[in-house]
Amino acid sequence: MARPKTVFFCSDCGYESGKWMGQCPSCKAWNTFVEAPAAPKKAQTAARGGGGLAAGLPQTPKTLKEIDTDVEERAASGFGELDRVLGGGIVKGSLVLIGGDPGIGKSTILLQVCRNLAAAGQNVLYISGEESLRQIRMRAERIGECADTLSFLCETDAERIMEVLHERRPDTVVIDSIQTMYREDVTASPGSPTQIRECTMTFMQAAKGFGISMFLVGHVTKEGTVAGPRMLEHMVDTVLYFEGEKSAAYRILRSVKNRFGATNEIGVFEMREDGLAEVPDPSGFLLDGRPKGAPGSVVTCSMEGTRPLLVEIQALACKTNFAAPRRTAAGVDYNRLNLLIAVMEKRAGAKLWDEDVYVNIAGGMRVTEPSADLGVVLAIASSLADRPVPEGVIAFGEVGLSGEVRSVSRAADRVREAARQGFTTCILPKVCVRGLKDAGQIDGMKIVGVSSVSEALRNI
Ligand code: TYD
Ligand code: MG
Repeated sequence: MARPKTVFFCSDCGYESGKWMGQCPSCKAWNTFVEAPAAPKKAQTAARGGGGLAAGLPQTPKTLKEIDTDVEERAASGFGELDRVLGGGIVKGSLVLIGGDPGIGKSTILLQVCRNLAAAGQNVLYISGEESLRQIRMRAERIGECADTLSFLCETDAERIMEVLHERRPDTVVIDSIQTMYREDVTASPGSPTQIRECTMTFMQAAKGFGISMFLVGHVTKEGTVAGPRMLEHMVDTVLYFEGEKSAAYRILRSVKNRFGATNEIGVFEMREDGLAEVPDPSGFLLDGRPKGAPGSVVTCSMEGTRPLLVEIQALACKTNFAAPRRTAAGVDYNRLNLLIAVMEKRAGAKLWDEDVYVNIAGGMRVTEPSADLGVVLAIASSLADRPVPEGVIAFGEVGLSGEVRSVSRAADRVREAARQGFTTCILPKVCVRGLKDAGQIDGMKIVGVSSVSEALRNI
């Protein structure tokens, strides 16, 4: 009997090869090659066709004028926050991948979206490969009454699902999760890169062919990316991640890829008894319960997509008991913290060589933007001097290696958000001040432009 033909491919980027290799020639990752049965010829050609935008239809080149510019049809999900993350609603015929840790609330939010869409008259199908219909019903009962246009299906066979889609032509479909789906003609086991790739391809054809808006749930690996070939992220239109501390009540939905809107946009939700609820004022939510007049606490404003968000940076500097002091960063980049400490020592004369330094963003938030640099520096300095930063002060700005404070984007939006939350003094890069004047005066806000770290410290 002939052995089924197998191929090897990189579990990170999907690069395919006839033999095993230690390092992927495409993405340079080590030890990522796995053996898998070769995909059937038909599926392979579909895969090679790329985007699969118009599966099957031969296309002719068009000039710009010939392309119709009808705005995409969008449906409201019932969650303003989700609609914003998606770029203004669910685009008809789009494929959205939602990743996140187990138990973070992926199934819950999608069930709520299905319920809202069904209530708005859409024909919705929720397909689960993970939970039984009883389990789904129990969850649905916590969330509330569902319209009859929402139906449920427990199925993991992608081909069977395609038949159902063909028959019923729903407007919106949820696949929970892509890792449980399989195709009979692909001999790899469910959850393997080959199966994930082939099933996603199948569902994509349904989405584009029938104009179905589709949500795929994706499990994440230890590293926090969606399990399966990295290619999965390239195939879909939108990739959203659901993040947050499971112990904390709030959850953040972040878009990392979006063909129909801005990326890095976030939506904030709160897990309640009856499912997820939107948090209309995330800055206020994050700053709630902030200690007043405590040394080492500074509020900064970080742009998350197009939304300014106020977060509290907490720092603690205390004498070390070790030869080399400890530096711990939670919510900010560890290397960035070390760099800022070095800048403080060299450019601002701060004595940190025998101090342990801990920095934390309150509420389990994560700030990746360099605009938080100035806030981190001020928080450390405040803790070191054991003197609180005055009430009502907010600071943002990128710090360079020479101790200079560099400009950040959208300063006016940040200042406005700070004013809205009742802050009265804003320390920001000097170069941003002129732009602020052009944007119009902001009532009741004292603007302090600084050009270096030491100048900022003197101002506090
Ligand atoms: P779930 O949506 O099943 O997570 P995922 O699909 O991402 O794995 O979320 C389950 C968690 O949410 C579970 O810990 C219970 C909690 N939960 C609530 O707190 N309130 C609710 O109304 C629901 C439905 C779940
Ligand atoms: Mg789930």
